[in-house]
Amino acid sequence: MRDVHAQLTEWMHRVGMDVRIDAAGNLRGVYSASPSSSDAPARRFFIGSHLDTVPHAGAFDGVLGVVLAVALVDLLGGRRLGLTIEVIGFSDEEGTRFGVPFIGSRALVGAVDHELLERRDAGNRRVSDVIRDYGLDPTRIADAAAGDDAMGYLEFHIEQGPVLDDLGLSLGIVDVIAGQSRCDVVFVGAAGHAGTTPMAARRDALAGAAEWIGVVEREARTTPGLVATVGRIEAQPGAANVIAGHCRATLDIRHAADDVRVGATSRLLGCARDIASRRGLQIISEAQHDQAAVAMDSGMVARLADAMSRTDHPVHRMPCGAGHDAMIVARRMPAAMLLLRSPGGISHRPDESVVEEDVAAALGVGLECLEEFARG
Ligand code: HGY
Ligand code: MN
Ligand code: MN
Repeated sequence: MRDVHAQLTEWMHRVGMDVRIDAAGNLRGVYSASPSSSDAPARRFFIGSHLDTVPHAGAFDGVLGVVLAVALVDLLGGRRLGLTIEVIGFSDEEGTRFGVPFIGSRALVGAVDHELLERRDAGNRRVSDVIRDYGLDPTRIADAAAGDDAMGYLEFHIEQGPVLDDLGLSLGIVDVIAGQSRCDVVFVGAAGHAGTTPMAARRDALAGAAEWIGVVEREARTTPGLVATVGRIEAQPGAANVIAGHCRATLDIRHAADDVRVGATSRLLGCARDIASRRGLQIISEAQHDQAAVAMDSGMVARLADAMSRTDHPVHRMPCGAGHDAMIVARRMPAAMLLLRSPGGISHRPDESVVEEDVAAALGVGLECLEEFARG
């Protein structure tokens, strides 16, 4: 993150931005407005995305939205608009390290509380500890919140799915971001000798989790629009010749309609309990995160659509299955997202890519939008 901050800071300075890092580790580049006779502070338009990634990620998820925003400012060529532009690179959106996503954007909307600062990573380090390790002061987290001058937020992001590629389109406007729930389900049985423990006498936590994972997949395959994923299991003690006495499975479940997501989550936890009782296991479910579906601001969606028409791009509105900082920032200001085609629908993998012409198209639409927002 230090290297990314250093490189982006250099680019931001080069295009005339002032740069700081807030107490949540967000990189904040400010391109001030043109001088004005009014005493009121210029309205502030945020453009950004996240700088963290999932393990073994591609090179575009998140960071493209920040670099593209700096490139937009560069395209102004030193010209100042009637609004302040703030480019923000959020510190932690994926939730990989602490199990809870959107830490950086929660700071922008004033939603980082003591509980979140106390969350611990696998090395038992708290969020507040790693903020201090970075040389920042977690007691100043409130200073990261957006002020009253905030007028809107635009996020450029790769689609991370196959829709735009299948349609042969460069860009898509998000109308709604699907809600998501994340929870850990822990199966507790009894460890034992793999060679001497009769099958009928086993309380195998990993076998229980495996049966449940099949149920998760069947539920998602048979519920229209639902996606459910068990992305990680941790079986203890994890030896080939020992029956697993303990197995933690992560559940990530999403749907554009909150009632469908909540209902499916409840059914799947019920199935875990049924499987456990049949196998003589205990179940512990630990909710990690619940985020309702978020509609993007209709006014900003309309203005994005107008900008696309004016730059001769076909307008395509679409729901978004991936979670994004825009769903958090939308609590505080009008938010919108412009998606760029993901060739092959590939993402969260090193071979994630973008098409250069699509990036150019996004810059054209973004510039058109900025000029339009600056006109008020
Ligand atoms: O998981 C997601 O939806 C995103 O990559 N944070
Ligand atoms: Mn991601
Ligand atoms: Mn992302």
